[in-house]
Amino acid sequence: MTANELRTKYLEFFKSKDHAIIPSASLIPENDPTVLFTTAGMHPLAPYLMGEKHPLGQRLANCQKCIRTSDINEVGNNRHLTFFEMLGNWSLGEYFKKEAIEWSWEFLTSKEWLAMDPHRLYVTVFMGNENSGQDTESIEVWKKVFASVEIEAEVCPYNTKIAGNKNYRIFPMPAKDNWWGPAGETGPCGPCTEMYYDTEPRLGALQKTFDEEINDFRVMEFWNDVFMEFNKIADGKYEKLAAKNVDTGMGLERAISVLNGKKDAFDNELFWPLFEKIEELSGKKYDSHNSPHPPLNLRGGENINPPQPSFTKEGEDTVRAMRIIADHIKAATFILADEKGLTPSNVGAGYVLRRLIRRAVRYGKQLGIDEIFTFKIAEEVIKIYQDTYAELKKNKEFIVNQLVKEEEKFDETLEKGLKELEKMKPEKIAPFSSKSFMTGYGLSGDDLFNLYSTYGFPIEMSLEEIKKLYQEYNQKQVVNTVELSKDDEDRILQQFHEALKKHQELSRTASAGMFKGGLADASEATVRYHTAAHLMLAALRQVLGENVVQKGSNITPERLRFDFSHSEKMTPEQIKQVEDIVNEQIKKDLPVSFEEMTLEEAKAKGAMGVFESKYGERVKVYSVGSKNGGMSSVEICGGPHVERTGVLGKFKITKEESSSAGVRRIKAVLE
Ligand code: ALA
Repeated sequence: MTANELRTKYLEFFKSKDHAIIPSASLIPENDPTVLFTTAGMHPLAPYLMGEKHPLGQRLANCQKCIRTSDINEVGNNRHLTFFEMLGNWSLGEYFKKEAIEWSWEFLTSKEWLAMDPHRLYVTVFMGNENSGQDTESIEVWKKVFASVEIEAEVCPYNTKIAGNKNYRIFPMPAKDNWWGPAGETGPCGPCTEMYYDTEPRLGALQKTFDEEINDFRVMEFWNDVFMEFNKIADGKYEKLAAKNVDTGMGLERAISVLNGKKDAFDNELFWPLFEKIEELSGKKYDSHNSPHPPLNLRGGENINPPQPSFTKEGEDTVRAMRIIADHIKAATFILADEKGLTPSNVGAGYVLRRLIRRAVRYGKQLGIDEIFTFKIAEEVIKIYQDTYAELKKNKEFIVNQLVKEEEKFDETLEKGLKELEKMKPEKIAPFSSKSFMTGYGLSGDDLFNLYSTYGFPIEMSLEEIKKLYQEYNQKQVVNTVELSKDDEDRILQQFHEALKKHQELSRTASAGMFKGGLADASEATVRYHTAAHLMLAALRQVLGENVVQKGSNITPERLRFDFSHSEKMTPEQIKQVEDIVNEQIKKDLPVSFEEMTLEEAKAKGAMGVFESKYGERVKVYSVGSKNGGMSSVEICGGPHVERTGVLGKFKITKEESSSAGVRRIKAVLE
């Protein structure tokens, strides 16, 4: 079965159950500050799960593109992805557990639909806690559907060895496994029941605890039915929602893999062309027999799932690296294809995008790829998905350009960082008494933090480089043979994160201070004046010339006072021109956005503002206008600002006068 067939079948099935099919929403959530990306099909539907009416009714289904970076470090094993497609169906306060489970079962096992072998299916349910009891209702429905194929399903007590009991089909699990949501800090959530498929029936009946079988990669979860009847509120409490909802999600990549008798989510046509490309670029082979195996300590004693005979450590590293590259560049390609035009940056979703690209580049280097290459992978991603997701083809040029730009930037960063690291190298490594190479090398987490904050050199790369140098020294017998201990690495990482936290706190205090100084209060009115001041400065520079800079400002909820460098009185024509330019920008309803960057980057971007901050310090840069449509104003500033200029109303200058020698003062209002 192909991905296309599965998408079509799923939607057809739920159409036959009276569901309206809705399109995939944007990967970048609208008006939702709780998450950076759409992490599940339910996410764009949250308002409807909370009780709003959906225009297409109470039964919905779709295929949603998702980004989930919480598992980014797991990518490389056989099942975790940062980009994936989720097939989902929803009941908005209509059908509940019985129908949801019965339809899941029908779609999976019916000969007409997926015809999966029911003897290979296992399910988990919520075991209950202080918020909600054990999900006995789901247990009863599952028993009934298993009975329809003559499996006498029994509940296996938590953490109990299955020991070959083929009737153990239903596994109660704690909230960490079987309570889903909310997608962000707050929102709709509830108990869930997950479906697993046995990927290796040749090994005979399951023996270990179900958790161990999961961690051993024997059974793979591929569909989750969530019963959303709760809302998590700000103080961590749960309240009942007005309606009982259903939210399900099937991982498309995992599902087609298991349907085709494969063991891993990468073994399908949504990945093969990517691996071929990476093989061609690196000259290395992707051999899935070398699939990273679960860590030995998770294999629960007897190892019934041993590595294949052809397994090698190097092969395992290669497979892991290729999976990371394929996954991350696929995710980056879809993020860049999104209509919102997000680009790599140092803050929020832009930072995640940057991290995905840079991480892929690092693994590319590990494979020996020494050319700019991520755009070549992106081109393959576009080929695979372009018929399903038109935005990929439409924005191909933008995607390719951004990837090339980011990769070049990263290369520069790496080069500079490596040079600095080289400079930090002590002339002579002292014969150290401690068993720590890091200490012997004379580096602390603070040093590595400086490398990161000044050059953007990632901590992971620092550690890798230090390890490499260590190995060189070791080979040359310059140092005694001491292991680069895990403790040592942990200590350095801890120092690094402490330095990072301190830095973040400092910059938060700095922007809070700026807020207090520049604005009388945070009421909506003053925020509007604040944005108007940015537009006015840009307009003044346009009308009076580039020598105009801001000398001061004072904002109340009623008016804006603004001082700027200029030696002559403005003419009535000039005043009118400035007003017209500002009002034009307001009428265009331009978006206002910010990015965090170093002072140097801000200068290079042509940002206006106070450049008194220290070298290497990170600042917020607010822009009015879109990247494509040209910027109306770019300014270093702590914020806050309105989201779009449309809300400002009409801008009017009420007074223009002298403030001091060479400085003029304007008073203006928004009507
Ligand atoms: N929202 C549920 C999940 O993502 C279906 O697993």
